[in-house]
Amino acid sequence: MLDDIFDYVERIRERPVWQPIPDTVRARFRQDVPTEPSDLAVVHGEFMNDILPFATGNTHPGFMGWVHGGGNLPGMLADMLAAGLNANLGGRDHMPIEVERQIVHWVRRLFDFPRAATGLFVTGSSMANFIGVLVARTAALGIDVRRKGVGSGSERLVAYASAAAHDCIAQAMDLSGLGIDALRVVATDDRHRIDLDALQAEILNDRASGFTPFLVVGTAGTVDSGAIDDLTALAAVAEREKLWFHVDGAFGALAILAPDLAPRLAGIERADSIALDFHKWAQVPYDAGFILVRDGALHQATFASPVAYLRRETRGLAAGSAWPCDFGPDLSRGFRALKTWFTLKVHGTAAIGAMISHTCELARYLERRIMTSPELELLAPVALNIVCFRCRADDANSDALNAGIVVDLHESGICAPSTTRIDGRLAIRAAIFNHRTERRDIDALVDAVLRCGRAAVASAAA
Ligand SMILES: Cc1ncc(COP(=O)(O)O)c(C=O)c1O
Repeated sequence: MLDDIFDYVERIRERPVWQPIPDTVRARFRQDVPTEPSDLAVVHGEFMNDILPFATGNTHPGFMGWVHGGGNLPGMLADMLAAGLNANLGGRDHMPIEVERQIVHWVRRLFDFPRAATGLFVTGSSMANFIGVLVARTAALGIDVRRKGVGSGSERLVAYASAAAHDCIAQAMDLSGLGIDALRVVATDDRHRIDLDALQAEILNDRASGFTPFLVVGTAGTVDSGAIDDLTALAAVAEREKLWFHVDGAFGALAILAPDLAPRLAGIERADSIALDFHKWAQVPYDAGFILVRDGALHQATFASPVAYLRRETRGLAAGSAWPCDFGPDLSRGFRALKTWFTLKVHGTAAIGAMISHTCELARYLERRIMTSPELELLAPVALNIVCFRCRADDANSDALNAGIVVDLHESGICAPSTTRIDGRLAIRAAIFNHRTERRDIDALVDAVLRCGRAAVASAAA
C-alpha cells in the first residue's frame, strides 16, 4: 500500500488531473453491507482500481481550482502513524495533546500573540470562523448567553465583513443564532478590499438605528481574488468602536511565513481571533483547520462545561486540564496536530514560506501571459496567488463560453481551474496553491484555455 501511494504521488504528472467516474465504476462500487470479511489485498485492489484514479486531483500540479492544498509525504506518513496510535485529542494527559499545544505555541509566535492566547485544530476555516464568531458573541453578551440564548436580551447584535468575505462568515452568523441579516455586507474598493469609509458609515448608521455593532471580520486572502483587507485600519476601527476583530486568514494568514508577503498582513497581530488552514498553502493533508484566540479565558468560557464523566484530576490520565474539548464543540478529536507537526518540522517554515512566495510568482507569470494574449482579459488585480480572467467574447456569450471552457478543461485532464464571478462577469479562476505547480503548468493552462476558447467560438459560428 505504501509503495502504491508513493508511486501515485511520484508519477502524478503522468495522470489526468481529474477524470469523470465511468458509470460502470459507480455501478460496481455500490455494494451491500459487507457482512463477510474480505482479504485486505482485495480491498486495496478495489481502492487502486475504483477510488484512486477518480480522486479530486489536487495533488496534481495542474489542479488550480477552488482553494486546495497539494498535500505532502511527511504529512501523509504522519497521518498513518496517528491512525496507528488512534489517539483521541478531546482531552486527558498524553503526549499527542502536547503536540497540539506545541503547534498552538508556534502559531502564537508567528502572529505575535500573548502566552494567554489559546488555539485549537478544527476541520477547516468554516469551523474556525464559526468558533471566532461564537467567542465574539460571548464577549458581547457575556457567558449567560450560553444558557439564555441570543433571544433573551434586548440587544440586536450586528457584525461587518466585506462583500468579498467567504460565505462561511454568514453561515457562522446563522449557526450562532444571530442571523445572516445581522451580517452587514460592506462594499469593496477597486482592489476588492473592504471599503473603510463604507464600513464606518454602516457602523454609525447601525448605532443610530439602535443596533449593537459587536464584530468586524477582516479577510487575509479573499476566496475570489486573494485580496487582503487593510488589517491595520480594521484593527483601529475595532479598537475605536469596541468591536471584536476577527481575521479570516483561511489561506492568506500563512503568508506570514513568506518574508516578501508578511508585511502585507500588518495588523493581523492586533486581531482578537484568527482562522487559518494548514491544509491549504501549508500543504498539510486534509483536514487541518485552526483557530487562534487572544483571550484564552474567554475562549474557554465559550465552550467549557463541567460534567461528571469528564472530571479533571491533578494526577493520572484525567490530569492536564484545560483540555482541547474546553475550546470547541468537538469532544472526540483526531490527531490533526501530528501531520502538521511533521510537515512543519520536516520541511521547515522557511521552505514553506519560499514555496508560498513561488506560487505568487507563478500567478504573476500567468498574469503576464494573460496581458500579452489579446484573446484573454484579466478580471481582477493579482494580489497573491489567484488569477481571475476570461476569454474575450461579447457580453451576451461570455459567461456561457467561459463556463464551458472550464468544464472542457476539467474533462481534458490537462488542468482544473474553477470559476467565480467578478464584477458580475463569470471568470476563469486559477488558484495556484500546489507546491508541485511549475511554469510549464501555467503555460499548459493558457494554451488549453486558448485552444478550448477558439474551438468554442468556431463551433458557435458553425
Ligand atoms: C477566505 C476563506 N475563508 C474560509 C474558507 C473555508 O475554509 P474551509 O474550506 O477550510 O472550511 C475558505 C475556503 O476556501 C476561504 O478561502
